[in-house]
Amino acid sequence: MSGAQRRSVILGTGSELPNKVITNEDLEKMVDTSDEWITVRTGIKERRVLEEGKGNADMAYRAAQRALADAGVEANDLDAIIMGTVTPDYPFPSSACVLEDMLGARGAFSFDVGAACSGFLNAISVADSFIRTGKANKALVVGSDALSRLLNWQDRTTCILFGDAAGAVVLGASENGSRGILSTKLRTDGSYVKQLYVPAGGSLKPARAETVERNEHTITMNGKEVFKIAVRSMEEISREAMDEAGVSIDQVSLVIPHQANRRIVVALAERLGVPMEKVMVNLEKYGNTSAASVPVALDEARRQGRIKNGDIVLLNAFGAGFAWGAAVIKF
Ligand code: COA
Repeated sequence: MSGAQRRSVILGTGSELPNKVITNEDLEKMVDTSDEWITVRTGIKERRVLEEGKGNADMAYRAAQRALADAGVEANDLDAIIMGTVTPDYPFPSSACVLEDMLGARGAFSFDVGAACSGFLNAISVADSFIRTGKANKALVVGSDALSRLLNWQDRTTCILFGDAAGAVVLGASENGSRGILSTKLRTDGSYVKQLYVPAGGSLKPARAETVERNEHTITMNGKEVFKIAVRSMEEISREAMDEAGVSIDQVSLVIPHQANRRIVVALAERLGVPMEKVMVNLEKYGNTSAASVPVALDEARRQGRIKNGDIVLLNAFGAGFAWGAAVIKF
């Protein structure tokens, strides 16, 4: 394992789940589906939905406040706020700027990173680079998405999968430790853009009455293709991240994968050779919360006492782009 050098360490974590719950039974009343189908194919039982009138930054703010309190860090001490999201409050400016203002973080530079479900991995990787190169000493990294806003609630192939949430991590610098973020790895393959995307609402097809009429502002997905590539890609990039960190899978105490589908998580665990006891799964309660999925699971795992000092944790994610990534962290 690599020796002493400037590294990013996790000082605190926090998360926020909206109060409104939509169960599989609720969905049975909305589309032609069943609790049994959803449970068997995905493992999801319920998901949360952000109330109307609230924006993504409202969720991110609560998660960030909890992470800052956990870290014992003041918002004013933050040098950077980096938010993984594809559902910003506005087309521009970034939700990170909205969040910065809500937190009253006066000395920070803030921006969003758009990598869909891999957003948190991309954001933490960027923040880690700022910290390791000395461009920042303290960074708030957020993964927050309200995909409910992009769902067609008449499309049973997509509306059952997703939920809203926010997760946050405060990173600090450690000059002399072997603990902290040991490696991050990111990858994309843009040839899969249309396998999972929102066709309208961007510059190519701006919002017009006709695009709304045709439901083109909602998620369109080839589920089978996503499934296949997700498992293979997350396995590969996890191995690359572990190699770079000089860590073997046996040294990993906990894997925190993107919470998309229980079958994807189980297949990934099998391919990595990790027993399910060492895999964090909470998707039955929240569904796929996009960029929030990994930091929410990380926060829950910490609060459940599943991560102790000295433990090595592997994070990985996969989503639209396709974009995927992994990180190895020693606590
Ligand atoms: N309820 C009941 N039936 C449904 C349904 C639902 N919610 N959604 C689809 N079906 C039907 C299909 O119409 C199909 O019917 P048919 O055989 O008569 O054509 C049948 O169930 C099987 O559908 P299929 O798409 O083959 O199921 P699947 O086993 O591939 O599971 C997903 C579908 C979406 C659960 C699965 O492909 C998946 O999880 N993919 C990854 C998606 C994902 O994680 N996306 C986000 C990545 S970040």
